[in-house]
Amino acid sequence: MSDNYSFNIKRRRPEEIYNNASDYFRGEILEQYATSKNIMKIQEKITIRALEILNLSEKDVLILDAGTGPGFTAMYLNEIGYKTVAIDIISEFLNYYDIKTLNPVASDMCFPPFKPHIFDAIISISSLQWIYRELNNKSMKDQIINLAKSFYMILKPKKKVVFQFYPKNRDILDRIGKIFLNETAFTGHFIIDNPKSPKKRKIFLFLEKD
Ligand SMILES: C[S@@+](CC[C@H](N)C(=O)[O-])C[C@H]1O[C@@H](n2cnc3c(N)ncnc32)[C@H](O)[C@@H]1O
Repeated sequence: MSDNYSFNIKRRRPEEIYNNASDYFRGEILEQYATSKNIMKIQEKITIRALEILNLSEKDVLILDAGTGPGFTAMYLNEIGYKTVAIDIISEFLNYYDIKTLNPVASDMCFPPFKPHIFDAIISISSLQWIYRELNNKSMKDQIINLAKSFYMILKPKKKVVFQFYPKNRDILDRIGKIFLNETAFTGHFIIDNPKSPKKRKIFLFLEKD
């Protein structure tokens, strides 16, 4: 990526304050997230953009929603006719709504419990920033490497992945890109919508399996 822009993030994001997603998403915060019509609308809009980036040619496909939370992305995908599997590490999120039709799986997406070559696409909205957020943290690095290799393995050949996420800074973004491209045979690139506007900026990592 050659664009030079400043991240200019003034507010600390929860993943900088809490060690684990489950320390943050609990009780009132989890409830607020799961019931917020505003968040649902925003996440749906990001999902529509992710689908545009994926550019799927068929409708009869199985999509993994990685880090689904209460399931906003998977619900939308299901509504428009896609089959889904919705994975999240917080089972309280998965149980918040009755999302049986979305095939919820309570598990760490760094160690996804699936057989090779089963998904036609993977979409992950606003979750990857919880996995790798400190450049020199070896355990976080090992986890994202495992996630990258696992996502490569569970995806069918010729299929695609889109992550939308909120990296803390440019170094983390670059490192994540390198990990996916160096540790797996994925090809891909970042797509950054509204790069100059910290408020509106949306960062997507698009990956394709040979
Ligand atoms: C900001 S929420 C986004 C939820 C949902 N994708 C959405 O767009 O509304 C981040 C989600 O990532 C999940 N998450 C974080 N680390 C995870 C991990 N290692 N495995 C699975 N899910 C994880 C959290 O539990 C949380 O539900």
